[in-house]
Amino acid sequence: MTTDRPRLLERPDPVRRSMFAIGCIAIGAATAGFLAATLRFFVPNVLYEPSRRFDIGPPSGFPPGAVTFLPDRRLYVFNGTDGFYTISSVCTHLGCNVKRGGPGFACPCHGSQFNENGQVVQGPAPKPLAWYSLSLSPHAHLVVDLDHPVTPEFRLRA
Ligand code: FES
Repeated sequence: MTTDRPRLLERPDPVRRSMFAIGCIAIGAATAGFLAATLRFFVPNVLYEPSRRFDIGPPSGFPPGAVTFLPDRRLYVFNGTDGFYTISSVCTHLGCNVKRGGPGFACPCHGSQFNENGQVVQGPAPKPLAWYSLSLSPHAHLVVDLDHPVTPEFRLRA
């Protein structure tokens, strides 16, 4: 009489057990990667830009007669005798920042010149500098709106 144990009750050899564990880990990692890629699909690809309407602070932050350059907004803010106004520093040729030079502006990149109202005096810039609307917020701060260009006659009395 033989006393062979049934094969199902035998302990699997350690090499087979570790291969099984490695296989399970690989399948788990692949599944997790697939799920992560699938979930990422539902997150929109959006580039967030700064708001085109923004607060630049109280009028008292701009001394009378002063011209203030806001480099992060690429904007000149004027506090003239007849009110506040803003002129873009973006050259209409290829987008360099124009610099104040005398009463007007000069572009350091290709030599365009603009008068004090931003009108082209010398090319290659094809168009004048943009003017943007200014308004007062309920908290009496100046608010620039880049979506509302205005003419050079615009002034805000604050
Ligand atoms: S970018 Fe100003 S002149 Fe070319």
